[in-house]
Amino acid sequence: MNQMLNLNTYGESCKYKKVNILMARANPGQGFSPTVSGFAILEPRMSAPRPDAAAAAATAAAAADTDTPADTSASDGRQPDATLRRDMPPEEFRRWGHALVDWLADYPARVENLPVQSRAQPGELRAALPAAAPELGEDFATILADVDRLIVPGLTHWQAPGFFAYFPANTSGPSILGELLAAGLGVQGMLWATSPACTELETHVLDWLATLSRLPPKFHSSGAGGGVLLDSASSATLCALLAARERATAGAGNRLGAPAHPTLVAYTSDQAHSSVRKAARIAGLGDARLRVLPTDAAFTLPAVTLQRAIEADLAAGLQPFFCSVTIGTTSSMAVDPVAELATLCLAHGIWLHVDAAMAGNIALCEEFQPHFAGLAQADSYTFNPHKWLFTNFDCNCFYVADRAALTGALGILPEYLRTQASSSGAVIDYRDWQVPLGRRFRALKLWFVLRWYGAQQLRALLRDHVAMARWFGAQVQASDQFELLAPVHFSLVCFRHRAGNAFNARLLAQLNADGQIYLSHTVLNDVYVLRLAVGATRTEPRHVEAAWTTIQATAARLQG
Ligand SMILES: Cc1ncc(COP(=O)(O)O)c(C=O)c1O
Repeated sequence: MNQMLNLNTYGESCKYKKVNILMARANPGQGFSPTVSGFAILEPRMSAPRPDAAAAAATAAAAADTDTPADTSASDGRQPDATLRRDMPPEEFRRWGHALVDWLADYPARVENLPVQSRAQPGELRAALPAAAPELGEDFATILADVDRLIVPGLTHWQAPGFFAYFPANTSGPSILGELLAAGLGVQGMLWATSPACTELETHVLDWLATLSRLPPKFHSSGAGGGVLLDSASSATLCALLAARERATAGAGNRLGAPAHPTLVAYTSDQAHSSVRKAARIAGLGDARLRVLPTDAAFTLPAVTLQRAIEADLAAGLQPFFCSVTIGTTSSMAVDPVAELATLCLAHGIWLHVDAAMAGNIALCEEFQPHFAGLAQADSYTFNPHKWLFTNFDCNCFYVADRAALTGALGILPEYLRTQASSSGAVIDYRDWQVPLGRRFRALKLWFVLRWYGAQQLRALLRDHVAMARWFGAQVQASDQFELLAPVHFSLVCFRHRAGNAFNARLLAQLNADGQIYLSHTVLNDVYVLRLAVGATRTEPRHVEAAWTTIQATAARLQG
C-alpha cells in the first residue's frame, strides 16, 4: 500500500524557500500524495476527523453547558475487553516509527532553509489548538501532520548550523536512537534491582568519560567517589550544595532543618551561573548567605578575593562551607583559577564544587587540560554532554570525590524500596545520588554516542568547533568595525560593533529577525556583548564564514 504524506509546511511567506517534507513514507519510490486528506483516508480512524480549533472550542463550551454523554466503557475485570485499545498495535507502531525516523532523518537538511529563530507570536500556538483534549483517539497521520502544521513554526531550531546562541544543546543520530531505545524500554533505574543494566551501564560510561577527561582517580567509581547522570548542571550544583551542607552540619540540616545551619555561608563569583543562587535558595541559605564575589578584568574570581571574604566571615562568627567555581562561565567562558581557589577551600574545610557545564567537554582534548588544573582538590565536578558532546538534552555528568557524603545527604530508605541487593552493599542505588526517586535510562544515549563516534572523532569535532570560533575571533580582531570583549578560550566569541550598546542591541535583533543565524547577548562591565557560540553538530566553516559576512552586512545596512 502506498502511504505517503507530503506536507507543505512553513506556510509563512519569507525569503526562505518553501519546503516540502516527506512526513511518512511507508512505500518509498512512488510519487508523493499532495494532500493530508489523501493520506488520512488510508488510515483506519478511531474517530471522526479532528474538528478545527474553533469548532473544538465550541464543542468544549457546549459540553460544559450540557451533560456530557456518559462514558460507557466498563470492564468486569475478568474478561478481556475487546474495545480497549491498550497500546498502538505493533504494525501501526512500526509504520509510524519508520515515518517519524524518516522525518527526523530529513530534518537536518530541511532546517538549513528555515529561519533559525521562531517567528511565532505569543499565544499563537495555543490559539490554534483545540480548547479541550480529544475524547476519542485520533489517527496518527493527523497527529504527525499537526507537528508540521502547528509545532514546527513555533520552533527555534537549535540543531540548525546557523544556531550560535547561548551554548549549544547539540544532538546526533546515535543519541536520538539511544533516547528512543530508552523510551521504548521504559525502565526505571531508581535502584540497581529495578534494572541492573541501567545502573551498571551508567557507572561504566561515567568512568569512561572520567578517563577520557583525565579526571582525578577519586572521581572514578573504583575509589571513594564516582559519577552519576543527572538532568542538568543546575541539579548537580544543588546536590553538591546539599551534600556540603550535611557534611558541614554532620547531618543536622536534614534532621532539624534551617535552625541547624544559621551560620553557614557559601561563595561563588558574579560570573557564576544563576543555578548557584537557585541552589542556595532551595538549600535554605537564601541570597543572604551566598557571597557573590566580584571578578577581575578577565571575569575570573581571584583567590585573594575569596580569601578576604572567608576571613571576614570567620571574624563575624560565620561558617564558610561551600564554594562553586566555574571553568567556562556562561557569559564569556572565563576560567576561574581553580587550583589556587582549591588550596584555600582545602585549608578551610570548604566543599569545592567545579561547574564546567559547557567547557568540561573540551577536557577530552589533551591540550586543554591546563584549564582543568586544580580538579584534584575539588569535592565535586559537573559538565553537560547535553551541551557539547552530541548527546541530546538531558544528560549531565556529576562526579563526587566522596559518594558517602552525597548519599548521606540525599538517601532515605522507606520499606517499599528495600532490596536484598541494596542491603548487601554491593550495588549502587542512584536514587540516593539525586533529588527525584525515578530515573530513566540516560546512559544508553551516551553509550551509543561514545561508541558510534569513538573518542578520536569526538576530539576532532570539538577541535573543529574551537578552530571555527578562533577563526571568527580573528576576523573580529582584524576588523576596524568590531572588537573582541573576551579571550576565545574555547568555542565562544564575545564581540561587539564599536558603535555602542544601543547599536549592538539593534544589530542583534535584526540578525535574529532575518533568520539566517541566531546569536544571543550578555553584558560585561556594562558593555552590551554579542555572543557567538560554535557547537551545533552540523555547523561547518562555511556557516561561520556566512555568519561573519551576514553580521558585517547587517551592521552596514543598519548604519545606512
Ligand atoms: C556554566 C553553566 N553552569 C550551569 C548551567 C546550567 O545548565 P543546565 O541547564 O544543565 O542546568 C549553564 C547553562 O548554560 C552554564 O553555562
